Amino acid sequence: MTSIPGTQVHPDPAAAAHVLATELADLIMLREAKSLPTVLGLATGGTPIPFYQELRRLHSEHGLSFKGVISFNLDEYIGLDRQHPQSYWRFMHEQLFDHIDIIPENIHIPDGTVDELVLRSHCAAYERTIKNAGGIDLQILGIGTTGHIGFNEPGTTRDSRTDIVDLTEETRMSNSRFFDSIDEVPTKAISMGCGTILDAKQIALMAWGEQKAPVVRRALQGPVTSDCPASFLQDHPNATFYLDEAAASQLD
Ligand code: PGA
Repeated sequence: MTSIPGTQVHPDPAAAAHVLATELADLIMLREAKSLPTVLGLATGGTPIPFYQELRRLHSEHGLSFKGVISFNLDEYIGLDRQHPQSYWRFMHEQLFDHIDIIPENIHIPDGTVDELVLRSHCAAYERTIKNAGGIDLQILGIGTTGHIGFNEPGTTRDSRTDIVDLTEETRMSNSRFFDSIDEVPTKAISMGCGTILDAKQIALMAWGEQKAPVVRRALQGPVTSDCPASFLQDHPNATFYLDEAAASQLD
């Protein structure tokens, strides 16, 4: 059954991030009241920065606790140390984890430094850890201009699982804005698969700015195809796109 994801269009990223962060706070408190943990799938990149800023504010000003949260990050570059300024481990700690009360043992980020020989088993173990935690309650996503979710580039099948992936030149070029040069951007990463993402009970994808407008249109209103992995979200029963006006500007 196809159910086109819901779409919310907000005046700017801060307004959209505020709404999504408030919905997440409600989910955490609802589950906490039933003594249940909240399992989150988390994203990196420029897009979720205002969302993490809002979560930090909800924690510091409103006492939102993350003690009951178990987190799983979508992806990590292969070959960057945790302390590398562009590692996603470091990004997550700087943007969120260092500022909230999440229990360090409950943080899961694929490890891009494990030996090549055990990378595959590391990916399989990551999948098992998600399952053992009860599955992801809410998966946060950005979207790449290629249509990727996580680092699942065009061509990735909808049932793919956490694995080693190649980054496209377009994605490396796009992410080179965070590095000194494109040569420093890794060529490979570990990414949750499309199947891993689609197993989440609820999915929230954020996209901002004019440069994301064409891919947002393809994801929401184009055919469901592995040419645009984000289009798989059209078949998810509980996926919502949180957009600013510019990112929504090419939607019918
Ligand atoms: P961005 O990346 O948030 O840096 O635009 C999004 C993505 O690649 O998923």
